[in-house]
Amino acid sequence: EIERKVDALLARMTLAEKIGQLVQYGAGGAATPADGNAVAVNPETLTQVDAMALARKGELGSMLNVVGVAKTRPFQEAALGSRLGIPLLFGADIIHGYRTIYPVPLGLSATWDPALVQEVSHMAAVEATTGGVKWFYSPMVDISRDARWGRSTEGAGEDAYLGAAMARAYIRGYQGTNLTDPESVAASVKHFAAYGAAEAGREYNTTDMSDIRLRQVYLPPYRAAVEAGAATMMSAFNALNGVPATASSYLMTDILRKEWGFDGFVVSDFTAVMELTHHGIALDAATATRKALQAGVEVDMMSHFYDTQIPKLLEEGKLSMATVDEAVRRVLRVKFALGLFEHPYARGTEVVQTVDAHRPLVRRAAEESFVLLKNGGQGSAPVLPLDRRVKTLALIGPLADAASEMQGAWGGAQHFPDVVTLRGGLAARMKKQGGELLYVKGTDIETDSEAGFAEAMNAAAKADVVVMALGESSRMSGEAGSRAHLDLPGNQQALLQRIVATGKPVVLLVFSGRPLVLDWADRNVPAIMAMWFPGTEAGNAVADVLFGDVAPSGKLTMSFPRAVGQEPLYYNQFPTGRPPGDADLSKPPSRGTAFISRYIDVPNDALYAFGHGLSYTTFGYSDVQVSRARVPLVEANNKSAKNLITVTAMVKNTGQRAGTEVVQLYVRNLGASVEQPVRSLQGFQRVALQPGESRRVTFQLGFPELSFWNAKSEEVVEPTRYTVWVGGSSRADQQATFEIAP
Ligand code: IFM
Repeated sequence: EIERKVDALLARMTLAEKIGQLVQYGAGGAATPADGNAVAVNPETLTQVDAMALARKGELGSMLNVVGVAKTRPFQEAALGSRLGIPLLFGADIIHGYRTIYPVPLGLSATWDPALVQEVSHMAAVEATTGGVKWFYSPMVDISRDARWGRSTEGAGEDAYLGAAMARAYIRGYQGTNLTDPESVAASVKHFAAYGAAEAGREYNTTDMSDIRLRQVYLPPYRAAVEAGAATMMSAFNALNGVPATASSYLMTDILRKEWGFDGFVVSDFTAVMELTHHGIALDAATATRKALQAGVEVDMMSHFYDTQIPKLLEEGKLSMATVDEAVRRVLRVKFALGLFEHPYARGTEVVQTVDAHRPLVRRAAEESFVLLKNGGQGSAPVLPLDRRVKTLALIGPLADAASEMQGAWGGAQHFPDVVTLRGGLAARMKKQGGELLYVKGTDIETDSEAGFAEAMNAAAKADVVVMALGESSRMSGEAGSRAHLDLPGNQQALLQRIVATGKPVVLLVFSGRPLVLDWADRNVPAIMAMWFPGTEAGNAVADVLFGDVAPSGKLTMSFPRAVGQEPLYYNQFPTGRPPGDADLSKPPSRGTAFISRYIDVPNDALYAFGHGLSYTTFGYSDVQVSRARVPLVEANNKSAKNLITVTAMVKNTGQRAGTEVVQLYVRNLGASVEQPVRSLQGFQRVALQPGESRRVTFQLGFPELSFWNAKSEEVVEPTRYTVWVGGSSRADQQATFEIAP
């Protein structure tokens, strides 16, 4: 039905109308040099674009970051009044909420709760469609193993299995069961591909990797999103193995279309078509256009190349009309699938009324996203949860009363007055409990001035407990947020040290869009929690968790390094030929521990490992079992084999309080034809347990969990031995073994 409509419409379109569907502009037209984002606009196309005039002529297909009824409606009216009346598609960077904001995606991934991710994503779609937005530039499913990369904040962290689970959840949440539902939006899965591997964590930088690594580590989340029905993809800025992704037919055609059967369209990243000239693979705008379009990038975001260059390329016979038609067909297919022709306008009115209705959901999301990194230990008692009878609580730090900093990068249609700050949430809580909150900012996020230190120390001296809200500003992560230092910015570390020196019990809340280096804090602060950027309900969620109404259950999805020099740092490394084994790497190298794969000045492992996260209770693991000791290869090496082995383990709440544990399953392939990681996540479940309660958890391993990519780029299972571990982090130590028999 849709195909018939697409063909009928295509047959009536002029060339200018067709090209129009392939270009995207903001309300102000194309990128200009004044646009901080457009590094240098190609002089060949420097004429400015009047987006409204194009819409009126039916020569504009989609718009970027034009949101809200007042802004979308005039453009849509103009497009509908054009000769064929093809509606515009409004796309925007809605990545963790439209008006009601939930944690940044890295924080959301720390919930290990795909059902929750689906729920909040759907909520964002419900809100955004009231403002006319029908297309999200989300999810970002780039695997990020390097905390220096600022865009780590926009993804689900370092692991392919978890990343794929989250990718599916986002697609289901955004697109619903039916794209035509007025509350659904089309997803744009980005940034295809491997943007997260940008060298040295530097934004827009090159990636270079083997096909094995690409397929094993970086592609699974994109593939999962496509299999879940993602309507569109966004091509990445980076070059991959020498070819900029935006001109890569290997990525866009061979893998995406041919291998995965993707039938939606690809939009370039912002001016990425133009940037092919900067990459040095196109001497002019025409070549850049031809390369991108032929590779499979249908929509040119902001470059102003497709509309200026396609007519010439067709005339010169350098591009075929069939290529243009196929691109237009893909765009129209998504517009029909979205029901845009029937419902082109914003759904209903603006969203303000729904914020209060959505607060409980985003509060829960924030609570689940917090990761308790440390709570007492080394002989000292846990500080958290705080005693509700505490009389005086000091709240100190530049993130404590910062509504504009609670929501992280890409704030959608965020409205700062909606935000409950920590100060707001904790003041209300202390009042209710009959206590007092002393708030002092102490310092700015990035400053050398110690002017506020004395006041902060005074407050600490008067308090029973000190809560410090330190970390990054929201602009320090997200696009163009790469950092070479991963410590607390400005003089926050100095403030922390002064407050700790007062001897008062300190709870450190770390706000950030990435892992930070917290080694000093780990040695000196009794309780540390990773907060990410929690969103609209930040302050209420913090109060709930600090006072134990809710026990923390988040687990890290990126390793926290001991030192920046460890980056890129990830748990599923290769063993190398000289693995450190049981050597104590906290000691300097000596006889027997020198010539192994190690640093001489810092242990190899993370300070806080992937999967780590404490609760207010403790969990114990035992009795890991596998259902079979041997599986014949013929049975295992079959792509549709789902349940080859059942792995079970007992998990017990061994503490005094109820809690939820994310039970994790790791697998190691010990003897493959290509080197395999020391362990890889292949299953997880959130399990709620009362004190003393035990449960047997069950995981199934099939071809997807046991297979790997070999040197011929084939996905295979080979005869070998496997070890499985079940536990509460990537350091799980309860194990069992089995083999795939030849
Ligand atoms: O969607 C984003 C992308 O992730 C980075 N560059 C700009 C795009 C549009 O705003």
